[in-house]
Amino acid sequence: MQQTLILLKPDGVQRRLLGEIIGRFEHKGLRLAGLKLVKPSRDLAEKHYAVHKGKPFYDSLLDFLTSGPTVAMVWEGREAVAVARAMMGVTDGTKAAPATIRGDFALSVQNNLVHGSDSPDNAKLEIALWFRPDELVSYISVDAEWIG
Ligand code: RTP
Ligand code: MG
Repeated sequence: MQQTLILLKPDGVQRRLLGEIIGRFEHKGLRLAGLKLVKPSRDLAEKHYAVHKGKPFYDSLLDFLTSGPTVAMVWEGREAVAVARAMMGVTDGTKAAPATIRGDFALSVQNNLVHGSDSPDNAKLEIALWFRPDELVSYISVDAEWIG
């Protein structure tokens, strides 16, 4: 089953949107496989956003991600990566469509509440960065045959 790494970034925790965001993924039918509250180190943030190293927003992005607690989650299900990205909306909150997380709750480009892996391969790398294997739980949902 495909897995994706979702972060509720520090703005989402500070704005008390954790329940709202978890609820959206739950209601969609994705299954929670891992969950923890982390204050990311600079090293973890650098590794997580290594692809953006050298871009003008990189240092500010690291300051943001390390500024407070972040909730790291692994959600799984059919096409979990693409499903979660669609639910998040595009990066810039002003352009994200209504009914997406960023479209409903964000105006900022940087402080856009959530991170989601952008490919199944990157999801594997990111999950390994944020979670030890024994922190992930695999199980069958009782409603699995209804959800698909
Ligand atoms: P994410 O990786 O967090 O899921 O976001 P994304 O794919 O939608 O956007 P990406 O291009 O990967 O950018 C990563 C994060 O960097 C911040 N950002 N700031 N100031 C800027 O121009 C700018 N551009 C990107 C955002 O927090 C974005 O989510
Ligand atoms: Mg990205």
